[in-house]
Amino acid sequence: MSNPLFKKKPMDMLLREAADTGEHTLKRTLGPLSLTALGVGAVIGAGIFVMTGLGATYAGPALTLSFIVSGFGCVLAGLCYAEFAAMIPLAGSAYTYAYAALGELLAWIIGWDLTLEYAMGASTVSSGWSNHFVELLQIFHLKMPLWLAYDHWTALATAENIIARAQVHAADPSLGVTSKLFVERVAQVLAVPSPDLLRQAHDLVGAPQIFGFDFGFNLPAFVIALIITAVLVVGIKESANFNATIVVIKVGVVLFVIILGLKYVDSANIGHSWAEFAPMGVGGIWKAAAYIFFAYIGFDAVSTTAQEAKNPQRDLPIGIIASLVACTILYILVAFVLTGMVPWKSINIEAPLAVAFLDHGLRTASTVITAGALAGLTSVMLVMLLGQTRVLYSMANDGLLPRKFFAAIHPKFRTPYKTTILVGLLAAIVGSITPIDQLGKMVNIGTLLAFVIVCMAVIVLRRTNPNQPRPFRTPLVPLIPALGVAINVYMMVNLGWVNWARLVIWLVIGLIVYFAYSRHHSRVQQIDRNSM
Ligand code: ALA
Repeated sequence: MSNPLFKKKPMDMLLREAADTGEHTLKRTLGPLSLTALGVGAVIGAGIFVMTGLGATYAGPALTLSFIVSGFGCVLAGLCYAEFAAMIPLAGSAYTYAYAALGELLAWIIGWDLTLEYAMGASTVSSGWSNHFVELLQIFHLKMPLWLAYDHWTALATAENIIARAQVHAADPSLGVTSKLFVERVAQVLAVPSPDLLRQAHDLVGAPQIFGFDFGFNLPAFVIALIITAVLVVGIKESANFNATIVVIKVGVVLFVIILGLKYVDSANIGHSWAEFAPMGVGGIWKAAAYIFFAYIGFDAVSTTAQEAKNPQRDLPIGIIASLVACTILYILVAFVLTGMVPWKSINIEAPLAVAFLDHGLRTASTVITAGALAGLTSVMLVMLLGQTRVLYSMANDGLLPRKFFAAIHPKFRTPYKTTILVGLLAAIVGSITPIDQLGKMVNIGTLLAFVIVCMAVIVLRRTNPNQPRPFRTPLVPLIPALGVAINVYMMVNLGWVNWARLVIWLVIGLIVYFAYSRHHSRVQQIDRNSM
């Protein structure tokens, strides 16, 4: 194709860059175990510890099937990622693959889109981290002002909830706060909140006003994002060690949930007929699958560290597939345990696993899970922010973003420190002022789009570049990638039009940047012009 927008990055140029050891390159320190740990570190987080709750309201006990469907879509995409990661062991992940297979414009779109996955993913998780932090404080009888513990909207919703519960309790003190009737009455009060309740909620939040608007700022989310940023500036090796420790704790807590929880599974909760098992039918299963997809995001972040892997061609496929398969199995078991322990209608939305154990009177277990969730979410943020900086680094090296800033490597730490600080600050700010569920859905739709493009790119590159050595080959091409496209597109459809609209707006902004800056500075196009 002669159109410069579809100019592909030549394979020999990619491989030269992979072999480059100059001043703009990163240190190679990661082996297969560190890579798998990075994958698991990115994957187990807010999805399983928080979003399973809302997922259960979409699917009922069939949430287990939603995890299977979503995991299957991810495994298909993971097999495609593995082929690329081994073939083009460069830092940019899906962005780099698209550049080789589909041309510059699509590569730009995917690189821009990946910020939804990584930077906004980190923001989402920082907000979830903060929820658990606030809960932990409460265990020690410490309270933060609501306007400093949540974004504006979540602070108001939390205050309304507190007041509604107090009202229902005052009206009938004999009702247990976990009883079905109590939960239903609170829901009734919140369904049509009175002006009085809204005013009281506003007073309870006690937010200061800035330019006439109430100000809500999630301080814990902001601070944790900045701490992670500092760790990343210091270096990948140190970050990988820090990550591996947390991963051990987190997997331990998930196994603890499964093993202890299995004892409390009651088949009555799971249902004895299809109608009881899947009360919202197949549609509900897909809707939940699209939502809890967030739980799987992150395995692809392994491929963003290709230039820091000691033996990327062998170890990247191992890291991607091992972390994905391990997490899929754990998630299916957790979903089974959760929906077996608690009737699906009373599964908690904010901290479903911890509260399920509380419901059975297991207070210590619940505290252990809260602490494990905190550790788990920390390592997710680490890998998400790491992935984001590496994608921007690659884009800058290609000239699509200003190289002086985005590809600048710290002389001592050898990390892309300027990008890391910029991205960390942005993630911290977004995470501290935006509600978690809205962020999560945006992240899902953006990531699903990246998966779809990677699956398509495998098929395209097999045709356009059949002789390129492929240390790992996706099996059954084109069946596996085509199925990957179908399942992931269907999950996107299930996220609803509002998220599609947000995705389109984000991509349009990206296109404006591309046509205003990147197109004129692209290295691939410059080489082309010089050779004319
Ligand atoms: N999969 C990651 C999580 O659940 C993003 O937090």
